[in-house]
Amino acid sequence: MIIALNNKCHLTKEEFFLYQSNIKNLHLKGTKLVLIPSALHISSFSSSKISLGSQNVSSHEMGPYTGEISAKQLKSYHVDYCLVGHYERRLMFSETNREINRKIKNLIKEDIVPILCIGETKEEKENHLTRDVLLKEIKEAVAELSKEEVEKIIIAYEPIWSIGTGVIPSGEEIKRHIDCIKNVYPNNKVLYGGSVNLDNVEKLTLDNIVDGYLIGGLSLHLDKIQLLIDKIEK
Ligand code: 13P
Repeated sequence: MIIALNNKCHLTKEEFFLYQSNIKNLHLKGTKLVLIPSALHISSFSSSKISLGSQNVSSHEMGPYTGEISAKQLKSYHVDYCLVGHYERRLMFSETNREINRKIKNLIKEDIVPILCIGETKEEKENHLTRDVLLKEIKEAVAELSKEEVEKIIIAYEPIWSIGTGVIPSGEEIKRHIDCIKNVYPNNKVLYGGSVNLDNVEKLTLDNIVDGYLIGGLSLHLDKIQLLIDKIEK
């Protein structure tokens, strides 16, 4: 099981200092933990048991792109994973599937695993468009990649209406959507993200629906993350 902790735009320097010493005390029995802190904190984190991820990468390679961070720079800080296409970036920073495709190509070139986030809006769900939306997002994100390159990507199914709301789809719904992704991409790992908490994680894990979780809000509460890991590893 993979647990990816997306800290989003949280934690000051002092807060992260404390957070990173606490996260190293988590007890893991086989769970693969990926910490995805704010970009400012990437250079200060290193751990032999926790992998490092980035929340974003430039769609450009290194060069005159003020404010950007390239895949090659991330790799030089031992970043092994990177989110792409998170809903917050699609919505607030107008990230397109074409741009996401360029980011994925840059990451793969540096041997960084892209975690491709996909998900439907509430309206799309109500109009029974979820399957079409998910498959279209993936198809456009992986354009021009070889089969081997596509298989390196971790897909994170995050229903937009579930992110930060406390509401999640039923286990059956999640299973149906993940099955539909795995039908087309059988060799890709698929995570679920969106309001994962201590109450819902047990059922999702018992039903063996997912390869792991992408966690936002709860990632800031390491006591709860330890309980969550314990439930998953039970
Ligand atoms: P929450 O866990 O806060 O719903 O956020 C999910 C998310 O966006 C992870 O990338």
